[in-house]
Amino acid sequence: MSKHDSTPKFPNSYLGNNSLDYDSSIWMERNQKKTTILCLQYLYDERLDILEKPDILKDEPSFILDLGCGTGFSTEILLESGFRVVGVDVLDDMISKVKNKKNHMKNQNNLELILADINFIPLRRSSINHAISISAYNFITHKAESIREKTKIANNTAKYLYTLLKPNGRIIIEFYPKDDNELDIFSSSFKTNGFTGFVVKQNPNQKSGQTFLLLKKRLLYISQ
Ligand SMILES: C[S@@+](CC[C@H](N)C(=O)[O-])C[C@H]1O[C@@H](n2cnc3c(N)ncnc32)[C@H](O)[C@@H]1O
Repeated sequence: MSKHDSTPKFPNSYLGNNSLDYDSSIWMERNQKKTTILCLQYLYDERLDILEKPDILKDEPSFILDLGCGTGFSTEILLESGFRVVGVDVLDDMISKVKNKKNHMKNQNNLELILADINFIPLRRSSINHAISISAYNFITHKAESIREKTKIANNTAKYLYTLLKPNGRIIIEFYPKDDNELDIFSSSFKTNGFTGFVVKQNPNQKSGQTFLLLKKRLLYISQ
């Protein structure tokens, strides 16, 4: 998401005409789809295999959450890759575009859309195999005014996602942290709430560049 719009503001960048511009941008479509393909490679990353065996990646059918699905560029790739997809977005202006495009998507019957906040998704516990979030996850703390508040929100969200995932479920998050502190808040929130995993930076020399969190639900974890 860095080239054309380096610092999108939530929610304004995704409302009204901005949502139309977003959805009709060829550059954005390419960028989101390319990143989704990369996220799927990370979902199967063998470094995650080593952590927390046994694995359930080959379970069928595989439900995947697209957290902050926007206008559905990532969703489309997930459907084409054979997943049953639950797309979640908090803005009607964005998710309504997916509804309009759904009929033209491959495997459209494997798609459910939910207008909801990432923190309050009406799904049963342990009902989801995996989750991805592309260029959306950092917005969960957009209202936070202090580091303490940011940390609290990030912890609550990680805790909540833990309950939705099946054992060994994986999450891949792509985002552009503002600084090392923000990266640490998100990364630690998962580590302290039942996940194992690690950070991958596309360009290790760039502090605020494209960053991926590769996460896997731990089997033995006692929630506090
Ligand atoms: C860059 S856009 C979507 C990118 C998406 N991967 C795509 O392919 O279009 C980010 C999205 O995150 C959504 N979002 C931000 N905060 C959210 C939250 N708390 N819960 C759900 N969605 C959220 C926004 O509404 C916006 O549609």
